[in-house]
Amino acid sequence: MLRVTAGPSTVESFPVIEIENLTKRFGDRTVLDDISLSVGSGEILAVVGPSGAGKSTLSRCVSFLERPTSGTVRVDGKDFTRLDGDELLAARRNVGVIFQTAPLLRRRTVAQNIALPLQYLHATEGSAGTRVTELLDRVGLADRRDFYPAQLSGGQKQRVGIARALALGPSNLLSDEATSGLDPATTRSILALLSHLRDEFGLSIILITHEMEVVREIADSVARIEDGRIIESGSVQDVILDPASELARELLPDRPSVPLDGAGEIWEVSHASRTVPLDWLTSIQSAPGLSGAAVSVLSASVESIRGVAVGRAVLAITPSAPSGFVEYLTERGLHVRPVEKVAAGSAEAAA
Ligand SMILES: Nc1ncnc2c1ncn2[C@@H]1O[C@H](COP(=O)(O)OP(=O)(O)OP(=O)(O)O)[C@@H](O)[C@H]1O
Ligand SMILES: [Mg+2]
Repeated sequence: MLRVTAGPSTVESFPVIEIENLTKRFGDRTVLDDISLSVGSGEILAVVGPSGAGKSTLSRCVSFLERPTSGTVRVDGKDFTRLDGDELLAARRNVGVIFQTAPLLRRRTVAQNIALPLQYLHATEGSAGTRVTELLDRVGLADRRDFYPAQLSGGQKQRVGIARALALGPSNLLSDEATSGLDPATTRSILALLSHLRDEFGLSIILITHEMEVVREIADSVARIEDGRIIESGSVQDVILDPASELARELLPDRPSVPLDGAGEIWEVSHASRTVPLDWLTSIQSAPGLSGAAVSVLSASVESIRGVAVGRAVLAITPSAPSGFVEYLTERGLHVRPVEKVAAGSAEAAA
């Protein structure tokens, strides 16, 4: 636990969401097995993993919709597994939930949908109205307040869902696949909104997703779940810089698929490092012995993730890579591996 000393008084700052040894069984099936994770104030944690891994179950355990079989879930220091009745209701208000499809009431307008949680709390019409206007503004829907859900795009519906999740002023947001099913541009605009809300309100956010794009764009930390267990977790920066990390490979920019049936050898060169110079791709030409070979770039992408330059290129070298080629690049911090050729038409090189 981090202790921050400020003048004469000592303030303790603890993770806002703290999951410890969480296990969830349905009958004799263990769906979550000893999960421990924490999310700090203003932090965005992405939880990734294949279908059926237990991501939504984890989300339901954190949003108090499901009781863990064992272990604890503390939100803002309160162990909700020990709460009941009014205390549990109050704790729930502190976690806003966004779903894959915003469950909007179709006979109610955007403004009325956002006002629902406030009505349950018997907010006065005046105070609810002010709050709804504020929320509409925050999510960029001020001009849609009297529209009905059927008149909105998928991204706009998701914004209504976000506004409604924020209605009661939670300090935590939980999003279960909120951007899957949206096109890339809309996904980016929703992620930008979440990132902005985090900055503005210091929200802690757990993003459940199967899209690496989401992790690349906004996550501070990432956990990968498979078969109910955490396989890998850490800050995105640490994960990217770990040469042994599976997740790091997945986080590299997507490589466009190219037919790999031409002449020569195919090599994939990738890096995630602070030390690799940005001209690495062009400097490959000066690898010893390479001057007699033709190097074609079949695909390449370079971008920055959390301040770390990451990149991946697929090269065709004709007739073949000279001896010492791999060593030359490895010494420069690049990862190099041969790619098996596949016939044109079959989409991907052997991964
Ligand atoms: N109420 C339940 N009763 C019994 N089994 C359940 C229940 N809820 C979930 N499961 C099982 O738990 C496992 C994990 O499901 P979960 O929905 O958490 O996966 P997920 O990682 O969210 O998958 P997806 O990416 O497809 O959404 C599945 O095998 C599912 O059948
Ligand atoms: Mg799910």
